[in-house]
Amino acid sequence: MKKILVVFGTRPEVIKLTPVINELKRNSKFKIVLCSTGQHKEMLKQMSNIFKLKINYDLDIMTRNQNLNNLTADALKKIDLLLQKEKPDLLLVQGDTTTAFAASLAAFYHKIKIAHIEAGLRSNNIYSPFPEEVNRKIISLVADFNFAPTQLAKQNLLKEGFNSNKIWITGNTVIDAVLEIKKKLNNVFISNKIKKKIESEAKQKFISDKYILITMHRREKFGEDLKMILILLKELAEENSEYKFVYPVHLNPNVKNPVNEILQKVKNFILLPPVDYLSFLFLMQNCRFIISDSGGVQEECFVFKKPIMVLRKTTERNEAIDAGYAFLAGHSPKKIRKLFYLIDEKVSKGFNFFNKKNPFGDGKASQKIVKIIKNKLANTV
Ligand code: UD1
Ligand code: UDP
Repeated sequence: MKKILVVFGTRPEVIKLTPVINELKRNSKFKIVLCSTGQHKEMLKQMSNIFKLKINYDLDIMTRNQNLNNLTADALKKIDLLLQKEKPDLLLVQGDTTTAFAASLAAFYHKIKIAHIEAGLRSNNIYSPFPEEVNRKIISLVADFNFAPTQLAKQNLLKEGFNSNKIWITGNTVIDAVLEIKKKLNNVFISNKIKKKIESEAKQKFISDKYILITMHRREKFGEDLKMILILLKELAEENSEYKFVYPVHLNPNVKNPVNEILQKVKNFILLPPVDYLSFLFLMQNCRFIISDSGGVQEECFVFKKPIMVLRKTTERNEAIDAGYAFLAGHSPKKIRKLFYLIDEKVSKGFNFFNKKNPFGDGKASQKIVKIIKNKLANTV
C-alpha cells in the first residue's frame, strides 16, 4: 500500500486539500497521513473542525508575528524529522505558502516524490504576492506532479520549460469545497443557524441589509499601503451610510492593529474575527459585492455570482479578470474609489458579470487529481 503524506499549514490549504484528502480516503489503495505544520493556529483549527479532519501530526510552529526565515527554518527541521519517521511514497502539498514550500524542499532533499496542487500560478513579479510567487516557483522545480487548475497555469509552466508529461489540468479544488459546503447552505435550518451565529458575533443584525464583504491580509501591503487603503475604506463607508461593510479581520497583528485603529469606530463597519468556512460562504452568498486581496475568494465568488474588487497590484488569477467578474484595483485609493462606484452602479443595474463558465473548474478537480495519482504512483514508485 502506498503512503501519501499530506502537509498543510494555513486556512486556505485546509479548504483546498480537504476534497482531495476525502477522495484519497475513498480509495483503499493509499495510506494517508495528515500533518499540519501549525503555521496557522486558530484559523487552521476553525477549518479542520468544519471539515472534521483528523490530523495525525501537529508540528505547532506558529509564533505571534512570525518572520519568514524562522518560520521556514522551523518547518524544514520538523518536516525533515517527520519524513525520516514516516518515509512516505508521495508528499502532497497545495498552493504557495511557506508550509508548502518548506515541505516540498524537505521532501526533495529526501528524494521523495512531490505532487503540487494549484501549480503554475504566476504574477511574474517576485515581490507580489510576496513571498508566494517565489515559493510556488521553487515548488514547481521539485514537483513530479503539477496539477494546474487552468490552461493558463499550464502555459506558465510550459513557458518555464517544464515537461508537459508532468502537468495536468484539473480545475481548482476550491470549487469542489465550495460546492460541497453550498449544499449545507441550501438547508434553511442550517442557514438560519449560521445567520444567528454571525449576527450574535457581530452584536447586531445586518444580513438582510445591503453589505460589502471585505478581507485583506497580503504581506506586500503592510505598512503605508494598508493604512492608505483602510483610510479610503473608512471614507467610502462614511459616504455610503446606507451600506454596511463587513470585515472578518485576519489575525496577523500587521493587519489587525491598523484595522482596529482606523475602522473600529466607523459606525457602519462591522469588524469580525476570522469566521469559519460555512459562515464565510454564507456571508459571501448574501453580500452585495466583495473587496479582497485573497486568492481563494477570487475563485469562490464565481459560485455565488458576486463580483470582486481585487486589492492587489498584480494577479496570478487573470482568468477571473478575463471572465469579467474581477477588477484589479492595485493599491491606489483613487482607483479603488473609482472601481467601488463602478461595481456598485453595475450591481444596482442588475448587470450580469457571470455570462462565461467558471474558469476555475466544475467541482471535479479532486476526482481528477486522485485518478492521476492512482495511475501514476503505481507505475513510478
Ligand atoms: C499565510 C500565507 C499566505 C496565505 C495566508 C492565508 C505564507 C508566507 N503566507 O499568510 O500565502 O495567503 O496564510 O491566510 O505562507 N496568526 C494567528 N493565528 C492564526 C494565524 C495567524 O495569530 O491562526 C497570526 C500570527 O501572529 C502569525 C501571523 O498571523 O505570526 C502571520 O501568519 P503567517 O502564516 O506567517 O502569514 P499569513 O499572512 O497568515
Ligand atoms: N475564509 C474563511 N473565513 C474568513 C475569511 C476567509 O473561511 O474569515 C476563507 C475563504 O472562503 C477562502 C480562504 O479562507 O477559501 C481564503 O483564505 P485567505 O484569504 O486567508 O488566503 P488566500 O486564499 O489568499 O491564500
